[in-house]
Amino acid sequence: MSDQVQTHYGGGGDLADEIAKKLEAAGKNLGDLKTSDLSTVDEFHIRGRKATLELGRQMNLGRDVSVLDIGSGLGGPARTLAEEYGCNVTGIDLTQAFCDAASQMSEWVNLGNQVIFQQGDATSLPFRDNQFDAAMTIHVAMNITAKDKMYAEAKRVVKPGGVFAVYDVLKGEGGDVLFPVPWARESSISHLEIRDEMEALLTQAGFEIIQIDDSTEESHGWFKEMLARMSESGPSPVTFQAFMGDDFPEMVRNQDRNLSDRRVRTVTFICKA
Ligand SMILES: C[S@@+](CC[C@H](N)C(=O)[O-])C[C@H]1O[C@@H](n2cnc3c(N)ncnc32)[C@H](O)[C@@H]1O
Repeated sequence: MSDQVQTHYGGGGDLADEIAKKLEAAGKNLGDLKTSDLSTVDEFHIRGRKATLELGRQMNLGRDVSVLDIGSGLGGPARTLAEEYGCNVTGIDLTQAFCDAASQMSEWVNLGNQVIFQQGDATSLPFRDNQFDAAMTIHVAMNITAKDKMYAEAKRVVKPGGVFAVYDVLKGEGGDVLFPVPWARESSISHLEIRDEMEALLTQAGFEIIQIDDSTEESHGWFKEMLARMSESGPSPVTFQAFMGDDFPEMVRNQDRNLSDRRVRTVTFICKA
């Protein structure tokens, strides 16, 4: 199952190199990149950089705070929060190709000393008890069956009283998910949970849930805007299509339907360890 997940995301070739070529084709100077120049490709979740900044505001971050990003992907959220708050972020992700690209992309924007990435599994974290001041996970648990283990591990590595922020795609009430979607091409690696069950899982792991926000309506608007842009000018060169492949436009169309039918929902949980 973890092999299937890595294959789904891993693509082929050198991802950082591919992305660098796309950025150059879009007229970007690789010697003078800002984190915001990367956000259309490295903030790999619904509502992009805006959602990351929203999460950061709810996490009480500051200079030298240590943050774990579980399922860090290409590292966009880690870099955005490191830049915005001066915190130090460790990213862990199952997909080696993403960890390699994330490290290279951090050098491009001079954040290599504030963010580090390593390969690993969210359900078995290679970190000490109470190692981090805070943790977050954005659009990751959709690929994980053992969510109880994932959240127990997050609880173990975050200091008592620290924040754990979860922003995920949940199962909605509107019927079965239409595939392919960005996290799965078919149902075998898609494991969505309903909101009540998420609350139970987080509480059973020992977290106190402080706030819950449902952003489904805004998420649907975000996909509608992406669809409109794609039909006007084709997919932008610097998008998730760079690593997701040619069925990315179909994923976007399905997500438009999935969100409008409430087959899926996007929900944020802010928790205290
Ligand atoms: C949709 S991407 C989100 C990446 C990143 N959080 C972001 O928002 O840009 C999902 C990520 O979860 C990772 N992932 C899936 N299952 C995982 C697991 N068991 N442990 C760690 N990472 C996992 C994938 O490799 C992928 O990078």
